[in-house]
Amino acid sequence: MILNSFFPTLETKRLKLRQFELSDKKRLREIANSREIAEGTFIPYPYKDEFAVDFIESQFRDYKSGNLVNFAVVIDNQDLLIGSMGISIDNKLNEGEIGFWIGVDYWGNGYCTEAARSVLHYGFTERKLDKIIAFHFKDNIASSKVLQKIGMELEGIKRNEFWHMGELKDTVHYVIYKTDYDKLWQNI
Ligand SMILES: CC(C)(COP(=O)(O)OP(=O)(O)OC[C@H]1O[C@@H](n2cnc3c(N)ncnc32)[C@H](O)[C@@H]1OP(=O)(O)O)[C@@H](O)C(=O)NCCC(=O)NCCS
Repeated sequence: MILNSFFPTLETKRLKLRQFELSDKKRLREIANSREIAEGTFIPYPYKDEFAVDFIESQFRDYKSGNLVNFAVVIDNQDLLIGSMGISIDNKLNEGEIGFWIGVDYWGNGYCTEAARSVLHYGFTERKLDKIIAFHFKDNIASSKVLQKIGMELEGIKRNEFWHMGELKDTVHYVIYKTDYDKLWQNI
């Protein structure tokens, strides 16, 4: 089922970032149902069947509201769903915030970095944002590497920002401004 025919599709060398479809629900549950993913995000674990449907349906509403574009990340030549990469948009401040996860079996292949670069590009060139931010829990080395690799700069650490999985966690915040992005990524 096509939820929104206007939803953007982004292509990278190995990946396609497209809208989630209801037919993704089984695969989404398979890859999202992981303690490792829950540890770095606010995705629930265990991940029940109904979460997948609610999540996919909420993407349509969120896109329509103009506040969130959440892409399904698929390996392009197989349309194999491997994760999610979203950008929420604060229209008043004209800034975006990216968030992502990749199924554990696919970690360490550069997929997240590749997808995050294309969403940054989308945010600055298509949505004409002035600034994009992101944060991760302090112990999340992979996320910090992704954010640095796409050119984001460390902005600061917030101590004890969230209770998460029974722990009070610090968060690490990153930012990139359009002016700096233009200098860094002119050629992608
Ligand atoms: C963060 C995450 C999306 C990274 O996905 P990925 O596709 O493996 O990322 P990449 O392959 O692009 O790797 C980026 C860097 O992180 C490193 N990395 C990947 N997994 C790692 C791990 N478990 N521990 C330490 N470093 C790791 C990679 O080696 C790479 O660094 P390098 O280029 O210096 O070798 C993935 O680990 C994940 O889904 N984690 C759980 C959910 C989460 O934390 N989401 C982020 C919320 S802010």
